[in-house]
Amino acid sequence: MKRYHPALVALHWITMLLLFAALLGGSLNMAPMSNSDPQKLEMLRLHMIIGNVILALMVLRLVVRLRSEHPPSANMDNRLQNKAASLVHIGLYLFVFLMIASGWGTALAADLPAILFGGSGAVLPEDFYEFAPRLVHRIVFILLSLLIVLHIVAALYHQFVQKDHLLGRMWFGKRKG
Ligand code: HEM
Ligand code: HEM
Repeated sequence: MKRYHPALVALHWITMLLLFAALLGGSLNMAPMSNSDPQKLEMLRLHMIIGNVILALMVLRLVVRLRSEHPPSANMDNRLQNKAASLVHIGLYLFVFLMIASGWGTALAADLPAILFGGSGAVLPEDFYEFAPRLVHRIVFILLSLLIVLHIVAALYHQFVQKDHLLGRMWFGKRKG
């Protein structure tokens, strides 16, 4: 088995794009914006929609990952590196799910579903940090970002320093042989 299942490959790259949109849009555009800014509601609505699409894709991805065959570990003879890689992969799943859970925690505490989608007409709280899950969302955001950087550096190291064509494992093509 030379590559991951094509469905997992597609899901890997689509969720990556959505995650970048949520991470960059959330931290650079949405969080610094005051809750009294009229544009904030639109931002939060879009952020919640993207977050929930990510949730659906991550569940699908987990199911495909658990049910499909995948290639053997990339470092056949380095057990420590194999262990580190699989821990990083598990961590990526875990932190994405924690990001979604803490996002939902904040949203429910602030009654956002009713405000953003139910037309309740209530105003946003002055600052989401009055709710504990908001702090969790920030901490997990930092940890997830670090893990993603580590993952990308490792993938590029394999590809361009070790020259073992690791990226091909996460791309489409013949899987057997
Ligand atoms: C994997 C999915 C998600 C990612 C990557 C993500 C990312 C982010 C980031 C980077 C921030 C800004 C953090 C900061 O600078 O402190 C943020 C804020 C926030 N997110 Fe998410 N988020 C996700 C899912 C969700 C979901 C599902 C919800 C709600 C149902 C949500 C609700 C919020 C709220 C309410 C804020 C606070 C905005 C503010 O402080 O003004 N997030 N998110
Ligand atoms: C939001 C960003 C990303 C996340 C959350 C992520 C997550 C993951 C996860 C969890 C796996 C293990 C396979 C699976 O269970 O699905 C994986 C594999 C892989 N990823 Fe990413 N990834 C991201 C971005 C990237 C980027 C930008 C690259 C390329 C530079 C990349 C290259 C790879 C490669 C080559 C593999 C296969 C590794 C192997 O065969 O051991 N990923 N990724």
